[in-house]
Amino acid sequence: MITKKLHIKTASRLAHINKEIYGHFSEHLGRCIYNGIYVGEDSEIPNTNGMRNDVVSALKEMAIPVLRWPGGCFADEYHWMNGIGPKDKRVKMINTNWGGVTEDNSFGTHEFMELCDQIGCEPYLSGNVGSGTVRELSEWIEYITSDNVSPMTDLRKQNGREKPWHLKYLGIGNESWGCGGLMTPEYYACQYRQYQQFCKNYNGNKLYKIAVGPNGNDTNWTEKLMPYMQPSFTDAISLHFYTVPTGNWDDKGNATNFSEEQYHMTIRETQKIGPMIEEHLAIMDKTDPEHKIGLAIDEWGCWYNVEEGTNPGFLFQQNTMRDAVVAAINLNLFNRRADRIVMANIAQVVNVLQSVILTEGAKMLRTPTYYVFKMFKKHHDSTLVESTLENTILAHDGISYEDVSVSASILECGDLFITLCNANPDETYTIDTAIDESYSCFEASILTGEMGAHNTFDEPDTVKDCSYGGVALIGSHASITLPPCSIVTVQLKR
Ligand code: AHR
Repeated sequence: MITKKLHIKTASRLAHINKEIYGHFSEHLGRCIYNGIYVGEDSEIPNTNGMRNDVVSALKEMAIPVLRWPGGCFADEYHWMNGIGPKDKRVKMINTNWGGVTEDNSFGTHEFMELCDQIGCEPYLSGNVGSGTVRELSEWIEYITSDNVSPMTDLRKQNGREKPWHLKYLGIGNESWGCGGLMTPEYYACQYRQYQQFCKNYNGNKLYKIAVGPNGNDTNWTEKLMPYMQPSFTDAISLHFYTVPTGNWDDKGNATNFSEEQYHMTIRETQKIGPMIEEHLAIMDKTDPEHKIGLAIDEWGCWYNVEEGTNPGFLFQQNTMRDAVVAAINLNLFNRRADRIVMANIAQVVNVLQSVILTEGAKMLRTPTYYVFKMFKKHHDSTLVESTLENTILAHDGISYEDVSVSASILECGDLFITLCNANPDETYTIDTAIDESYSCFEASILTGEMGAHNTFDEPDTVKDCSYGGVALIGSHASITLPPCSIVTVQLKR
């Protein structure tokens, strides 16, 4: 067993961890919204106003703080007025990005806001810049948030919603460098400035405006965009980065049937987001030295080949312990940069890419990734403290990455909460932890399994969190055992 030293300084309070770092993303894509979340009021699947009760209750248990909608690429062809009013009169459209299927618009603005109410999370809208108009986006905000005498307020009331909704997060476009319009950064920046100008704050509702940021390591986009951004009208810029194990978009590898080499490649690829974030932040510093503009990583996660026999346009993939390790590494990393990262949204919440939930008819399962979000939820709105891990980059069959990742925070009650991940599939580590405070007792939990372990509809509980005894605590020293391929959380109490 190898020992690594971890030092935690609780006196060194570094940043507030926005709960929105634990956010999710839902798109009109495959079976995410339809079947996965929304089945309609007449469905035999138990539902409340059309929303699946099983999915809503699992998301509540995980304490999902914010949900992005309606896309993704879909957002830039979405015309919100087609998704309001009597359902039988709603205009149908082709979902050109995702399988060319018919979108009947039965899930629209009212349904999304109802979903967020049921879950108890903040809504995050992506506005259509690619094929929409300034007026269309401006009126959407008016429709949702205004209580003044106005045509959009009247329309909302006619459609059965008397009071305005609260709406904080607004994305102005999505991937405008790609599916959102193939724009240059300079052109998008001007579009952003114009569109956001007509998204007003009604009745005390204050919008938090997010501009389209770079695709992965495209530093040129950030360089060109940032000079046009001002904190008075830009709260954050986004970053999208997907982990593609092979690095080859034409053959991304399989979600469950993968080699040890592909596992190592996945961990190496996902850790590329760390230096990428630093590079973008350094560019942002040049025009925003006071760090008033945040970074919202509003699409991230693993992207594999679709499951055999499923529609290639639906991006349905299984989810294993490998995904859980990827999730833990990313969340620890986002926590550690909570001074600048204001939000993150894993893609996507149900049945698409790295989902926390999969459904099949009336059946539902929680994926290994789900349990990581559940185990880490105590970090929501906590205070990041300094944690320094003696780490070495280890090579696995010539593929190098950091095996162990960590972050630590102080909870509102004063307890210290530590989340650790051992990505090494072969080695157990003992983490010899020295803290500047003494504690009398602890609670710990673990998620572990073979790298390919996953849950199925017949065996939904193969991978599940459970309480953990692998911690020895004496005052200000804790010895934490991390089995291979494991995620461990420890709450230390005074
Ligand atoms: O999440 C799937 C797609 O990935 C989104 O629609 C798009 O924004 C990104 O390219």
